[in-house]
Amino acid sequence: MRLDFPPKHTEIIGAVKIHSLQKIYEIDSGNIANSKNQQINNSTIAFDHKDLSKICTDMAIIIPVKNEKLSLLEGVLSGIPNECLIIIVSNSQRTPVDRYAMEVEMVKQFSQFSNKRISIIHQRDPNLSRIFHKINYTSILDQHSQVRRGKAEGMVIGILLSKMQGKKYVGFIDSDNYFPGAVNEYVKIFASGFAMSKSPLSNIRVCWRSKPKIANNKIYFPRWGRVSEHSNKYLNDLISYITGYETDIIATGNAGEHAISMSLAENMEFASGYSVEPYELINILEKFGGIIKDSTRVHKDNVEIFQIETRNPHFHENKGDEHVASMLQESLTVINNSKICNTDITRDIKNHLLVLQQKTNPISSKFNGSTTNHLMEPIKTIPIDKFNELVIDSPKLLQHFNASEL
Ligand code: GDD
Repeated sequence: MRLDFPPKHTEIIGAVKIHSLQKIYEIDSGNIANSKNQQINNSTIAFDHKDLSKICTDMAIIIPVKNEKLSLLEGVLSGIPNECLIIIVSNSQRTPVDRYAMEVEMVKQFSQFSNKRISIIHQRDPNLSRIFHKINYTSILDQHSQVRRGKAEGMVIGILLSKMQGKKYVGFIDSDNYFPGAVNEYVKIFASGFAMSKSPLSNIRVCWRSKPKIANNKIYFPRWGRVSEHSNKYLNDLISYITGYETDIIATGNAGEHAISMSLAENMEFASGYSVEPYELINILEKFGGIIKDSTRVHKDNVEIFQIETRNPHFHENKGDEHVASMLQESLTVINNSKICNTDITRDIKNHLLVLQQKTNPISSKFNGSTTNHLMEPIKTIPIDKFNELVIDSPKLLQHFNASEL
């Protein structure tokens, strides 16, 4: 993969470096000879298969799933490079039709042909709830002491299972992607980002080149999704306020496809549901940006945030207007609720949320108008050996295909 290097611009906020969007020139840049001149020229850097493969060996790809078509999920699996461990965290229905059992069956069959290492778990398995209760990680549990529903909750479970397997990097890819080739590009982007990072604390965020739509029998290639357009704006307003200079550096506020080094992921708080991606940026700024007065910690390492633009378009399941409205509400609320959000931005977001609420069906089950976000504590508080032991003691909880038993 060959991409812009160094990034054209970097916003530096305390120990956080946010790099501007980098463009890909070659998805596959061939076999690069060992010479540094070939790898890096004045404006690009290239990584060959060997470089990326090495990083992929240390990476787990976490796939959150909820009631997606089996063939869509199978397509996503086919796009993930063989070196990566795949962890599927499902919240699919168990009754009246056991869709989770169908997923397990598909994965079992698929892994026989593909030789991929795949682990799969159901996030609402009562045994998992019991384990979290036992190790006192209660911020992932609901009022009935069950693991909460939500994509972010699935991601946190995936991070823990990756840590248990000793992985250095975790990448997240949604299970409703129609293009396996795009999935393959995402993983190469993650690996290239980690290869560029000079810090053990890094976050690689994917910006889609376009999200194709069909209207009036024509295909269109809009640049931004309906949520990211707004969350990018408010995140940029926030950074402009902090630095005192207007910026449009953030292009990946809602990057569903992204990756985090384990050293960073285990120190972060995660917001529930769909507010997870914008909150990652907020949480990094809160923790490492030196903005909050009482955060006196001196950080040895910077956090490097890379944003990389795909060549493939992003084509996924369309889940309707109410779904988009609720994602937007969750995303804006999490920005608004941050201690680092100033009053002008808060006022703008509140107005935006008000208009959104008026436009959205008030009896919608998806749009709840909530003004709070639930946060999950950093997973570094969890004794990982104990967690490992408890998972092994629940034999049906985590199923492995081609992956060694833990
Ligand atoms: N484990 C688990 N648990 N997975 C879930 C859950 C859950 O409760 N809810 C949804 N998922 C899975 C879906 O099956 C899909 O693979 C992925 O999480 C994303 O959920 P979608 O509901 O398909 O979200 P989206 O495609 O509309 O939005 C995506 O893109 C946004 C940016 O445009 C998500 O990645 C958002 O987080 C992102 O902000």
